[in-house]
Amino acid sequence: MEKGKSIAQMRQDYQQGYLLESEAHADPMLQFDQWFVEAEKAEVYEPNAMSLATSMNGQPSIRIVLLKGYDAQGFTFFTNYLSDKGKALAVNPKASLNFFWKEIERQIRIEGMVEKLPAEASDAYFMSRDRGSRIGAWASPQSQEIADRSVLEGKVAELLTQFEGKEVTRPPHWGGYLLRPHRVEFWQGRKSRLHDRLVYERIENGELRIENEGPMGEWKMVRLAP
Ligand SMILES: Cc1cc2nc3c(=O)[nH]c(=O)nc-3n(C[C@H](O)[C@H](O)[C@H](O)COP(=O)(O)O)c2cc1C
Repeated sequence: MEKGKSIAQMRQDYQQGYLLESEAHADPMLQFDQWFVEAEKAEVYEPNAMSLATSMNGQPSIRIVLLKGYDAQGFTFFTNYLSDKGKALAVNPKASLNFFWKEIERQIRIEGMVEKLPAEASDAYFMSRDRGSRIGAWASPQSQEIADRSVLEGKVAELLTQFEGKEVTRPPHWGGYLLRPHRVEFWQGRKSRLHDRLVYERIENGELRIENEGPMGEWKMVRLAP
């Protein structure tokens, strides 16, 4: 149990920045944009790697995926629609994202609802990937049990023959999702655990607006105790 003791002593005091209401954008997507650009400038390692939490039958499940774009509508990522996360999102489109940029002592927590991207958008992104990754998307029955690695290698060999001299187009079970946020929290680590937390919620008629359809509502920003 020696190791356990030393883990308990591991802690950092955060001093790199602050987040004030007076300087924060009124729209969380603009705030996200500012922080994302700052993360890139600070050379955060893979700033677009984010945790994606889904929930099915009351069991949360979480994994890393790569953010592939963001705009006023929300956040996009790509995956296999028949994977465990794809199955969970088909049943329950409520999902959460989390970014932790330790180099700048920041966390962003996002809650929202996902929808599949239009086929054309998934096609366009798929075709921008290198041929090897495109073959990989066909070869991997993501989240299914396979006997061993040779199953994948055999599948790739088969596909290379099948697609020889042809374009590797998008498999129908692979594509993108858009997560439209209804709650976004920006967390900046501060000294003595007195961190800054600004939370934006999409409000309509005084209530949290979580459906994707209809008007977007307005963003309300509040500070939470750390
Ligand atoms: C840095 C990193 C980036 C990843 N990016 C993706 C991604 O963009 N899409 C994806 O489907 N899986 C990605 N993965 C793999 C997922 O974490 C996960 O293993 C896989 O999607 C299967 O998840 P599921 O069984 O819960 O559906 C990434 C993993 C890591 C560590």
